[in-house]
Amino acid sequence: METVLSGIRPTGNLHLGNYFGAVKNFVKMQEENNCFFFIADYHSLTTHPKPADLHGNVKQVLAEYLAAGLDPEKSTLYIQSDLPEIAELYLILNMNAYLGELERVTTFKEKARKQPENVNAGLLTYPTLMAADIIIHKADKVPVGKDQEQNLEMTRTFARRFNRMYSQDFFPIPQAFNFGEQLVKIPGLDGSGKMGKSEGEGNAIFLADDPKSIRKKVMRAVTDSGPTAANQSKPEAIENLFKLMEVVSAEEVVKHFNEAYNNCSIRYGDLKKQLAEDIIIFTEPMRDRILSLSSDDAAISKAAKIGAEKARASAQKTIREVREIIGFRPF
Ligand code: TYM
Repeated sequence: METVLSGIRPTGNLHLGNYFGAVKNFVKMQEENNCFFFIADYHSLTTHPKPADLHGNVKQVLAEYLAAGLDPEKSTLYIQSDLPEIAELYLILNMNAYLGELERVTTFKEKARKQPENVNAGLLTYPTLMAADIIIHKADKVPVGKDQEQNLEMTRTFARRFNRMYSQDFFPIPQAFNFGEQLVKIPGLDGSGKMGKSEGEGNAIFLADDPKSIRKKVMRAVTDSGPTAANQSKPEAIENLFKLMEVVSAEEVVKHFNEAYNNCSIRYGDLKKQLAEDIIIFTEPMRDRILSLSSDDAAISKAAKIGAEKARASAQKTIREVREIIGFRPF
């Protein structure tokens, strides 16, 4: 049985990018694997959230995971900060993580550019904390979107380095994973780049969005004036709408609009209407469950409690072994 692990920062509601990058696969995999799913609240401290916002966001993500079909009895759903063992492993890994390699990580460079007033050590060592998250449970597979590929590469580097340093195959070397497919990048609605909550108003569709706001966001998505020659390649904004359609609509629908694009008869209004309705159908069952779970404090605290116990047992075992390996031994 393989160990699968995935995480999400609690910075707001989950969007379709989070779902297709990290959640969808997990729900199916919990039947056959030893699955860990967690909320990366230590990681979110890099942006200095207000305590009440942080607490509310963690609760929201817990509710959304459960709503997306995670079964807290089958998989281990937990909050990162319930496991101080992660912080200990992070400290240990940092002793063998080098400034040069950390500074070269693309996400660090991007964040440093976006928030020059807050380039903190947590941002720099984000990949070591992420490595600790993953190897603390000796995970084999990590479902993530394309944007996390480089962080996963760093995890492999740190795991190999530890194994080499202590001359044993202690940590498995984890692989990024997207259910047999390529890692995905779900595009946003603003014409370029990925779906993300910090990419601006209207760019992301959240699992909890109601039909009215889904229609509004999709109808406002960026397009162009339409194809002028047969079989012309699609500009990014149009390609993005098709990519979204590929994940939520039936194959014949995608085929129909592709043909209409290729013979220049496409009307973007029709495509957007169809896309909005298909997103609504896709998210509807989750939205209903999110609404009822968000106010079900008992279900949320029960899930967090069971999860913390199971996850802690696994993390404590690894930390005991790591301490022994590195020479922290009782007298
Ligand atoms: P975060 O919180 O930014 O995103 C959570 C997950 O959603 C995926 N994702 C996407 N996938 C496809 N298309 C998109 N537009 C899109 N937007 C987000 C992300 O790839 C991610 O899988 N560093 C992580 C959190 C983390 C983690 C970990 C993940 C901390 N420790 C250990 C896995 C394992 C992050 O910031 O994800």
